[in-house]
Amino acid sequence: MLSCQALRKSYVTERGEVQAVAGIDLDVEKGCYAAIIGRSGSGKSSLMAMMGGLSRPTDGTVTVDGIDIWRLSDDKLAAFRNRRIGFVFQFASLLPTLRLVDNVALPAMLGRRGDADIYGKAAMLLSRMGLRDHLDAYPSECSAGEQRRAAIARALINDPVLLLADEPTSDLDEQTEIELMDELLAVNRELGTTLLLVTHNLALAEQAEQIVHIAGGQIVEDERAS
Ligand SMILES: Nc1ncnc2c1ncn2[C@@H]1O[C@H](COP(=O)(O)OP(=O)(O)OP(=O)(O)O)[C@@H](O)[C@H]1O
Ligand SMILES: [Mg+2]
Repeated sequence: MLSCQALRKSYVTERGEVQAVAGIDLDVEKGCYAAIIGRSGSGKSSLMAMMGGLSRPTDGTVTVDGIDIWRLSDDKLAAFRNRRIGFVFQFASLLPTLRLVDNVALPAMLGRRGDADIYGKAAMLLSRMGLRDHLDAYPSECSAGEQRRAAIARALINDPVLLLADEPTSDLDEQTEIELMDELLAVNRELGTTLLLVTHNLALAEQAEQIVHIAGGQIVEDERAS
């Protein structure tokens, strides 16, 4: 489903070249929940950005659902990302001038799936995230956890095959974190969406079917529950 081969990313800075990802080979099966753990600066976000088609690798390949994504043209990659990949970042990146329901509907409008009931689906996803009463609220009127849940709903609007979540629950209270994770895991199980989660929470990582430990831009351990 997801496969990375000899993946590398280096950044050129004033201090010289930084090897953020230094040769990663990784396979994640369809429908799997995989956790990525590793210390700050170990290269997790850089890896996720390449897997999600957001940041071009310095070297290596990323295959998602049979497509070698970095060989696509920019337009095709943008369309692929919109249709097949959902992202949830650490900080909910909702557009402040749009209501929650508009934020969630937006990727489907951009994907021009004009025939479907996009707003009905956006409302359904927000309700599922416990935000039935917040459809018309603006992000500034919502708590951090509510914004994060809306960002998850937005990531799901186009039925992605792959959901990438980079510390989606950090800085939330424990109860909200548990509720958010329950939703992500329900999506993984019920819709068969492959879930990759970067987390510093070992208890969350331990529920995963695959745990990938990263240090210094490399995989130091790739454990699969049998
Ligand atoms: N745009 C950039 N330009 C230069 N260096 C970068 C850039 N982005 C990341 N780095 C460097 O690459 C390395 C890996 O960063 P990355 O953000 O992937 O780590 P991370 O594992 O996600 O860390 P954290 O847990 O703190 O989020 C770090 O040394 C970082 O300083
Ligand atoms: Mg990071």
